[in-house]
Amino acid sequence: MSVTTHQLIQWKQQGRSIVALTGYDYAIAQLIDQAGVDLILVGDSLAMPILGYETTLPLTLDEMLHHAKAVRRGVKQALIVVDLPFLTYQESVQQAMHSAGRVLKETGAQAVKLEGGYPAMAATISQLTSAGIPVMGHVGLTPQSVHQLGYKKQGKTVEAGERILQEAIALQEAGAFAVVLEHIPADLADRITQKLTIPTIGIGAGPHCDGQVLVTSDLLGLSEKQPPFAKAYANLRSTITQAVKDYSLEVREGKFPDL
Ligand code: KIV
Repeated sequence: MSVTTHQLIQWKQQGRSIVALTGYDYAIAQLIDQAGVDLILVGDSLAMPILGYETTLPLTLDEMLHHAKAVRRGVKQALIVVDLPFLTYQESVQQAMHSAGRVLKETGAQAVKLEGGYPAMAATISQLTSAGIPVMGHVGLTPQSVHQLGYKKQGKTVEAGERILQEAIALQEAGAFAVVLEHIPADLADRITQKLTIPTIGIGAGPHCDGQVLVTSDLLGLSEKQPPFAKAYANLRSTITQAVKDYSLEVREGKFPDL
């Protein structure tokens, strides 16, 4: 049985931390799943470390669907949540319904994530959830708004913090099953986590969230640049470079393949 959205809510009630990572392809998603991660987010961060775009904005729904299908083929246990890319849900509720419907129908993922809060996204989430589409919210730093917000920490003033808290509450009331809190002060994330009955999944939001998510390329040390709050648990850039250099040398010296 794979992890469900209801289980995440129960885990919050039981104080069991939720472990989430991004996944973009079959091979890594399979390893992450077998290692016991609870939730795999096919994040639109796909655009940057994997596809080489400058921001998440150019990513299309078709590109996302292509990667989400590959992730689905690799995952047996974890809940799979797929980001709706920029401008595939903001134009209208109908557009959001069409895009989220394609994600669920074509990829086999169980839920979608979208960025932004009150009022526009609350209305959209309400419609999607009443059509049976589980939705994860995302407030604080929302990378699809990079041209308005930059990549700066959000919610640093009392008013800005209050706005993010109210957005998170509105998303919960609209039916979201969880909410990502990105790059906000730890004490604000703590307040939001205590206020909500749905789980908060933090990234750069301190230790008090109900769960944590990292971009897998950052965790593996594969990203060219990574945000200050990320932690690399391996250095695959240097491992891969060394493996390729060793191979090249052996081919050039006639040592590989051996007789
Ligand atoms: O796209 C993504 O990877 C995300 C995470 C940073 C939460 O939205």
